[in-house]
Amino acid sequence: MRLFVAIALPPEAASELDGVVAPLRPAWPELRWTGVDAWHLTLAFLGEVDEVVTGKLAHRMHNAARRHAPLSLSLAGAGAFPGATRARVLWTGIRGNLEGLAALAASVGAGARRAGAPPANGRRGYQPHLTLARCRAPADVRSLVATLSGFEGTPWIAGEIYLIHSRLEAHPRYEVLGTWPLRTRLSS
Ligand code: 2AM
Repeated sequence: MRLFVAIALPPEAASELDGVVAPLRPAWPELRWTGVDAWHLTLAFLGEVDEVVTGKLAHRMHNAARRHAPLSLSLAGAGAFPGATRARVLWTGIRGNLEGLAALAASVGAGARRAGAPPANGRRGYQPHLTLARCRAPADVRSLVATLSGFEGTPWIAGEIYLIHSRLEAHPRYEVLGTWPLRTRLSS
């Protein structure tokens, strides 16, 4: 199974972002836009994981999540990988407790590694983002990035992590396999 671990977006944050992105989609049919329902912040991409290892992940994700307090996050601005002139991926950025987010991503990655599912280490390292669109061919998205640069979403508190099964169909389908709360008491 192709798995990843992510933070979900509350409906309010998603509809706020959609309000800004939806009017842009029709003018850019050459991009494969991600759907509102699929939006998430990836903490670790685990790739293909067999059933035995998947079974071990629950315990590790539980332990990773409980070590971190809930995070205040918001969506803002835009950028592109590897760059806006020859983009493959258009994204919106993350603001707020980025140190906490990176620490949570590191714990999730370490837990997954111990379970036997080492995260695919992208060349970029961990760069928090939410993918808005993927480009069929490298595209110049500078005007899109500029249009989205003023976007600032309302902050929310991320309180749990999700283990998600990604089925690659015409559009990726995501199925939640497990959810674990971040630490709810600061003393624990
Ligand atoms: P992306 O949004 O930047 O493409 C499910 O596919 C999630 O895992 C997506 O958020 C995707 O990131 C991420 N992902 C997919 N393949 C990946 C890879 N090879 N390395 C890192 N992350 C990956």
